[in-house]
Amino acid sequence: MTDPSLIGEPVETRLTEPVKTGLTEPAEVAADPEYVLGTGTDELERLAFQHRLWSDVAHQAWRAAKLRIGQRVLDVGCGPGFASFDLAQWVTRRGAVVGVDESSRFVGHLNHQAAARDLPQLSGRVGDVQQLPTLLADQAPFDLAYARWVLCFVKDPAAVVAGIAQQLRPGGYAIVHDYFHYDSMTVAPKSALHDRVVAATKRSWEDRGGNTDVGGELPRLFAAHGCRCLHLDTHARVARGEDSMFHWPEMWWGTYAPKLVAMNYLSQGDCDELLQLMAEIGRDPHRFVHCPTVYEFIFQKL
Ligand SMILES: C[S@@+](CC[C@H](N)C(=O)[O-])C[C@H]1O[C@@H](n2cnc3c(N)ncnc32)[C@H](O)[C@@H]1O
Repeated sequence: MTDPSLIGEPVETRLTEPVKTGLTEPAEVAADPEYVLGTGTDELERLAFQHRLWSDVAHQAWRAAKLRIGQRVLDVGCGPGFASFDLAQWVTRRGAVVGVDESSRFVGHLNHQAAARDLPQLSGRVGDVQQLPTLLADQAPFDLAYARWVLCFVKDPAAVVAGIAQQLRPGGYAIVHDYFHYDSMTVAPKSALHDRVVAATKRSWEDRGGNTDVGGELPRLFAAHGCRCLHLDTHARVARGEDSMFHWPEMWWGTYAPKLVAMNYLSQGDCDELLQLMAEIGRDPHRFVHCPTVYEFIFQKL
């Protein structure tokens, strides 16, 4: 299953972009495409923390899809690579992990870390996940494709699904962790302000072609490309201030609410009030947050 072209090759020669070693490169951030959450240090740190909180769910799903040493894995919309690092350790040098993301900064981080962590089986490519067949034309079929929190951002999820299905070997698996019923994100007791900001968030994604409820489309899209849905489940989380999961929505609003202001979806007053509300909930053991429910799909290519 090992792709010899990815073994023992110096990392530098596998890069499509120069390696970025630092985390504060505002000029390069500005050059990246339109990922609505940005590719700055705040988002990179948020993604790292988010992976820590959700890595148990990811590992459980990978196990369910029979991930093992020597396999070839595609990390679709890999970001800075937090899931990819774990996947690379799972398949070892006998396997291969290829991450694809449109952000050159994130892919630079992945490739730099692959070298630093001595993971020659891992490489990242800059590119649009809506064009996987072109981007991966030189690649052997994959045993597993993992797409976490990326389909909700793309304009054409059907193209991503078609590409994933094409890249999988018959019998290979695709795992998706993504959103459906994003309105499930709320606070208790209910707050009209919080629910208004969730609605603004949905609009900000949708105006850029994303869909916070994309999960609802996936069984049909994968079926259209010869993939059967073997498993469908949800991961709902509620958190009080003392729970580490509380920092997921807290960090989310800390980074995204100011972006909503900058993009004219939210007033500065509402942003300040929301952050104040989150701080108050964090101090009050009688209040809690209902995090957006994460949907889990495991598909198998027939
Ligand atoms: C929320 S992050 C998730 C990253 C990673 N999958 C994880 O779980 O940590 C979404 C990622 O999707 C990438 N992305 C969004 N649209 C994309 C596209 N059309 N092609 C490639 N990457 C895309 C962004 O650059 C970002 O890294």
